[in-house]
Amino acid sequence: MSGEAKRSIPAFAQPSGGGVPAHVAIIMDGNGRWAAQRGLPRFEGHRRGVEAIRRAVRAAGDLGIRYLTVYSFSSENWRRPAQEVSDLLGLLKRFVRHDLAELHANNIRVRIIGLREGLTQDIRMLLDEAEQLTRDNTGLTLVIAFNYGGRQEIVQAMRSLARQVKDGTLDPDAIDMDTVETALDTYGIPDPDLVIRTSGEQRVSNFLTWQTAYSEFIFLPDFWPDFDEATLRAALLEYGRRERRFGGLSAQAS
Ligand code: IPE
Ligand code: IPE
Ligand code: MG
Repeated sequence: MSGEAKRSIPAFAQPSGGGVPAHVAIIMDGNGRWAAQRGLPRFEGHRRGVEAIRRAVRAAGDLGIRYLTVYSFSSENWRRPAQEVSDLLGLLKRFVRHDLAELHANNIRVRIIGLREGLTQDIRMLLDEAEQLTRDNTGLTLVIAFNYGGRQEIVQAMRSLARQVKDGTLDPDAIDMDTVETALDTYGIPDPDLVIRTSGEQRVSNFLTWQTAYSEFIFLPDFWPDFDEATLRAALLEYGRRERRFGGLSAQAS
């Protein structure tokens, strides 16, 4: 292989040493069906879903995961009935207000990804406060994907790079994968090693489009409000049995 070709292999493509994934990202799905199964309103499913987030954060820290991303509201979730959207925004506000002090006390760093424009001033201030207060914490990083869409994130990144080209501060020929990453919301956060989706749906629903190019995916039948440490442990065991090749050859073959 020529030196030139070698240099073009991106940094993400280093085979993992196995073990515990550094970054687990979760598509928390099935709150509504969890509630429907019990004859409860959807809101109750969402409320119980917040408790599952608390369990997931605790378990992730205990299991040595460094980054936990939770998909809590997608760019497309505005399509839901106004009452449900308002319930979901209310639960986010309550979660940040109620849990921020404890997250901070537990040395957890909070990052929010997704579009802030279009959110009301009170929510934007809460999200800013959560990031500011916890920015120097050194424990688990909890990434909350809120008003997030993977394609929208890439569009924003392209706009930002295009502005730099227009200003004359960026040479188009110098744009590489690292440059693109500097313009994403997830800048500085390693790509997810493992993506878990609950509720039996097997799709990505516009989550971390750029970042999951080589992630492992695990689809679980459980509804999100039932998620607990045992669920996470089982997923990590399954992850440990996967072989990540990043386009290379199996360890046995090479
Ligand atoms: C996940 O549960 C929460 C959000 C998407 C905000 P759902 O609300 O999607 O629950 P189901 O898929 O209808 O069961
Ligand atoms: C994905 O779940 C978004 C979140 C978990 C926040 P959805 O329930 O919105 O996804 P679809 O519509 O079934 O693809
Ligand atoms: Mg759903």
